[in-house]
Amino acid sequence: MNYQTPRGTYDILPEDVRKWHDMEAKLHRIAALYNYEEIRTPYFEDTGVFAREGDSSDMVNKEMYSFGNEDSYTLRPEGTAGVIRAFDQHKLYGSMELPARFYYVGPMFRHERPQKGRQRQFTQFGVENIGLKDPYLDAETIALGIDIVKSMGISSVKVCINTLGDDASRAAYNTALKEYFAPHIDTMCPDCKRRLVQNPLRILDCKDDHDHPAMKGAPKLRDYLSEESKTYFEEVLKALDAMGIPYEIDERLVRGLDYYTHTVFEVISTRPESGAQATIFGGGRYDHLVEYFGGPELSGMGFAIGLERLLALAGEDGYAFPEKPRTDVYVIGLGNVGTAPLAIAKQVRDAGYSAVANFAQRSLKAQFKSADRLHARYIVIAGEEELKNGTVNIKDTDAKTQETVAVNDLIKTLKEREK
Ligand code: HAM
Repeated sequence: MNYQTPRGTYDILPEDVRKWHDMEAKLHRIAALYNYEEIRTPYFEDTGVFAREGDSSDMVNKEMYSFGNEDSYTLRPEGTAGVIRAFDQHKLYGSMELPARFYYVGPMFRHERPQKGRQRQFTQFGVENIGLKDPYLDAETIALGIDIVKSMGISSVKVCINTLGDDASRAAYNTALKEYFAPHIDTMCPDCKRRLVQNPLRILDCKDDHDHPAMKGAPKLRDYLSEESKTYFEEVLKALDAMGIPYEIDERLVRGLDYYTHTVFEVISTRPESGAQATIFGGGRYDHLVEYFGGPELSGMGFAIGLERLLALAGEDGYAFPEKPRTDVYVIGLGNVGTAPLAIAKQVRDAGYSAVANFAQRSLKAQFKSADRLHARYIVIAGEEELKNGTVNIKDTDAKTQETVAVNDLIKTLKEREK
């Protein structure tokens, strides 16, 4: 049988796993700088965690992997809902300093049409802070994301930002959109027909009808914003200015998920080759999720980065990924040496050096070739004759020297050479 990875999934081979480790180390370090703590939630949840009543997003309506007989479960398409579910389930609002600051790294699953930068299993790094509704916190959250992008050597990005305002502003705007789009809806896509009923705001986010003539004259949210919402947004922008983070206000940015209120943002790669999947990370504020899952009335704010996209952009921008680490010691056996290479390699590892022992009966040349392919720093040659005297040969491939040492002094010799 010739199996391949399922459509929209991919293997990460060792050479690339090294890059992932490097990126992940940065994510953990930067999250810690902002005092966020990691949270791990299940890869699947009750379907209701994601499919909240009245949700109009494509993610919930078209892209979920759901299964189960009596109970319905869904592979998580995103991280926010699970984190808030956990926050409420464990009543963390009672025990944690607020705002609670969480981050997560892990796979997400969406049944989308795979293309460059869009998979069915992909990986997100996300943050959620819960319990403080403050425009400065919104700006600080964006700064965290920008720090991560910069740490991977990516500089061609722009921050697009908008506000969806408070509930009353959005309700007034939705009514206006409904009235405006109703006469045009027959010429719009089937999804927009559904959106007109469920959540007209989402029409603005439609990929198919992006260039529909009716889009141009659509009412602007800014004309429906309450004074409070306007002030809140102005403060977010002021805080971004204060941190020296440039941004563009994009009045059509409504985001693809339904839970947002007030600030929404996306950070986009401005490299022309990034194409349609140029969004590196996106997020925003959500006022109602904590209550939805049974907790108190607390507002949250967060974003998620698509890590495959981050990694691809880092590569394109010439980020220097670390080289494969060298093997410290390669142990060659010469003649009938039995378990000696095995025992020597064990002794070397016990001292904290990496070691590979040759077990098969192979020519000296073949064994040296293996040592070379592993870029071994030292080659220890355990010869039958030398072992009888309790000695081995050690070759330093950097210094290009070779000496005979007592097996018992091998570690001491390695340590001396490290000095
Ligand atoms: P999202 O915009 O759906 O937001 O996803 C965030 C990021 O995940 C995207 O900007 C993109 O980089 C990446 N992404 C999404 N779908 C795919 C895919 N099919 N293949 C590859 N990468 C993908 C959320 O998920 C929200 N939970 C973010 C958030 C957190 N909002 C508040 N807190």
